[in-house]
Amino acid sequence: ATIYLKDYEPPAYRIEQTQLHFALHEDYALVTATLSIARTAGAPETQALVLHGQALKLESIQLDGNTLGEGTYVIDEASLTLEAVPGEFELRTVVRIEPQNNTSLEGLYKSRTMFCTQCEAEGFRKITYFLDRPDVMSIYTVTVEADAARYPVLLSNGNCVATEALASGRHSATWHDPFPKPAYLFALVAGDLSVVEDSFTTCSGREVDLKIFVEPKDLDKCDHAMDSLKRSMRWDEETFGREYDLDIFNIVAVDDFNMGAMENKSLNIFNTSCVLASPDTTTDAGYQRVESIVAHEYFHNWSGNRVTCRDWFQLSLKEGFTVFRDAEFSSDMGSRTVKRVEDVTVLRTSQFAEDAGPMAHPVRPDSFIEISNFYTVTVYEKGAEVVRMIHTLLGAESFRRGSDLYFQRHDGQAVTCEDFVLAMEDASGVDLGLFRRWYSQAGTPEVSASGVYDEEAQTYTLTVAQRTPPTPGQTDKQPVVIPLAMGLLGDAGNLPLRLEGELPDTETSDNTHRVLTVDSAEQRFVFTGVNEAPVPSLLRGFSAPVRLDYPYTRKDLQALISHDADGFVRWDASQQLAVQVIMDVQAQLDAGSEPDVDPLLIDSVAAVIADTSLDPAMVAMMVTLPGENYLAELASHTGQADVDGIHAARDSVREALASALSEQWQSLFGRLHSVEPYQASGPEIARRSLCNAALGYLSADSVDGVELALAQYHGANNMTDRLAGLQAVAYFGNDVQRDAALADCFDKWHHEALVVNQWLQLQAMLPLEDALSRVQALMAHDAFDLRNPNKVRAVIGAFASGNPVNFHRRDGAGYRFLREQVAVLDGMNPQIASRLLGPLTKWRNYQGRGDMMRAELEELAAVSGLSPDVFEVVSRSLA
Ligand code: ARG
Ligand code: ZN
Repeated sequence: ATIYLKDYEPPAYRIEQTQLHFALHEDYALVTATLSIARTAGAPETQALVLHGQALKLESIQLDGNTLGEGTYVIDEASLTLEAVPGEFELRTVVRIEPQNNTSLEGLYKSRTMFCTQCEAEGFRKITYFLDRPDVMSIYTVTVEADAARYPVLLSNGNCVATEALASGRHSATWHDPFPKPAYLFALVAGDLSVVEDSFTTCSGREVDLKIFVEPKDLDKCDHAMDSLKRSMRWDEETFGREYDLDIFNIVAVDDFNMGAMENKSLNIFNTSCVLASPDTTTDAGYQRVESIVAHEYFHNWSGNRVTCRDWFQLSLKEGFTVFRDAEFSSDMGSRTVKRVEDVTVLRTSQFAEDAGPMAHPVRPDSFIEISNFYTVTVYEKGAEVVRMIHTLLGAESFRRGSDLYFQRHDGQAVTCEDFVLAMEDASGVDLGLFRRWYSQAGTPEVSASGVYDEEAQTYTLTVAQRTPPTPGQTDKQPVVIPLAMGLLGDAGNLPLRLEGELPDTETSDNTHRVLTVDSAEQRFVFTGVNEAPVPSLLRGFSAPVRLDYPYTRKDLQALISHDADGFVRWDASQQLAVQVIMDVQAQLDAGSEPDVDPLLIDSVAAVIADTSLDPAMVAMMVTLPGENYLAELASHTGQADVDGIHAARDSVREALASALSEQWQSLFGRLHSVEPYQASGPEIARRSLCNAALGYLSADSVDGVELALAQYHGANNMTDRLAGLQAVAYFGNDVQRDAALADCFDKWHHEALVVNQWLQLQAMLPLEDALSRVQALMAHDAFDLRNPNKVRAVIGAFASGNPVNFHRRDGAGYRFLREQVAVLDGMNPQIASRLLGPLTKWRNYQGRGDMMRAELEELAAVSGLSPDVFEVVSRSLA
């Protein structure tokens, strides 16, 4: 059933206190819930109490100590209803559940040998009957009871207030969380876990015990997460004035987890892939991911837990804001421009595609069937862009005042995106009126700009027009408020800016940069005193999540690449130039002619390599060609994507760069290659990224390059270099080299699950002819496990979204494979099944493939007993 935002009603009942008792056994668990319930003032006495509950077996139920007989309550597959209840009462239920058989990884389940929970968004109802909605906040006291030998560690939220040794080798621990919280923040863990301990002193002098619990084998992989946690705690105090509020903060790593991590109050639960790190198992990107996810979950303590969401339509209130916060943190810890480029790449590749497809939805969706389907790049990443735009419009200081006001005003409350915007307005005095459309309107605005230079008048006129294409269910779009950060580039650098009619004294210290506000369908900005024809530097820092179109010549792009003041624009121009050249080559190949790569691209890459003033990480990104998925997204925006054509053209441009600049790649590699002990520091990560980009080109160019990659694979003392070597051998080596290196890697690392996952993923993405049968073989491999989401993502997910030429095979075998896997997985883990389906939903985008893709979706639609998760995605895609 579809749920609508407009139907929101406040809860008729509250649950003030929640006492839970868990008796955990190998083949079942008994959950006793004692709830102090009160009717909301103003709600009618006749209002029935409807508790959520799913897959629960009710053993007994008592109201104020009296057992309720059958007929006094109604149970269906989703709820327990009591028709008439007192205004205030205590309800006690005992339910039996089977965590060991819970393959959905939602609610209480077993991951290998430990019990753990995942309740967001609506998993708590699989644990006990409850008002499982975020605007019902309760104080929890939780007792966990289990076998003492198998489960020596028993954890829940808040503080441990009692432990007890019990008969028959069992024991228990009782936890109390003084902060009222919604059920989705509840957590429980029981297992035989090792712990790494540290502490943090908060700004007001509170000593906080920090603990990371892992399986004993992973004890050596916690240091980086612990350091990241301490840095996050300090940063949140300094940057947002947020202090931690309990004496204890726990993190637990689990192998089987649907998402990255979860911010349960004082008991964060992490996918092992997002918390464990060691030089031998984790790449640089992995180290950075751990740092940012640890930060993200920690930051939720304020943006999510202390102030939470009123309903799930408001999900971006906590997620968009928290992604913004973690991105700022990462920018402060490392390079701001590099972080920005990484985030924009995700946004442009995945979020723009989501906005252009059947699942398009606003940052604040107005309806859903299954909320799990809305943990999306739109809610998270576009949501973060919306917060970033508020930051840009208000300025850092006012934004901080707004954030302080928001936390102060709403501490302990469940609120809405509108409350967030209001706090920002009230604290800054800035009217965000129509800016709100970013929350309610789906689709990516298209901004087209053009410029005219008038030499005589010394003016430059920039005309900016915007439109947002229709999305499913939202055909009429209004203009949005777009902060357009910009500059004008002259021969010798950026020019001073003065808008027509503006007084000279409005100039600030940096008068070569400003933020224009674009808020109507078409606008003109006239700059005066411009004494040469400039190249506009637009959307600096990607100041708004829009598609920008400006008719740059290749010379313009080259000028921006070589000397604009904005690092993001320099990178963006390098990408635009590469896109143009790849498209040229694609057209040449289509026409059956020899590819002819514009020497301008080669010159520009050579110049970037030679520019020693640039951060090596920036150079690495600027010399890396745009990905095939991004190219396909661009192509489908104006027509349909030809995956094979894109792949061939991109390969051929890469070969041209590899061979034309082989000496440069060689000297870069020679200069940057190092076998010093691994350090995950910014400069070292930057050095490795450029060195491995050079290695990629060298191995694309020659057999000597492949030998170099092979040598690096064997000689590496860290996962980044080892994987880069292996990848280069697997892509560019011959069959014998490839298979030998891959076999060697498994042989040496089969005992490290996180390495094995990367090994699986690398193979699933190889653009080889027999890729699909390789993927099928991998699924039959001992290392594979369909119940483990990381493995499913590494093989099936990576194949479907990271191996375009094979997923989109002409014979449709890739599509059939995905459909079959989704059908099987849907019976086990609907969230994972639904997520895997993403690539098929884009069926309208692919030349000559749409009918086959659509047919697989129809095939799925005909399956009986589909989960709401998969049903929603399939039916929207076919609508
Ligand atoms: N709140 C978590 C995070 O972003 C994600 C939880 C996702 N849960 C889900 N059922 N999709 O940090
Ligand atoms: Zn989050």
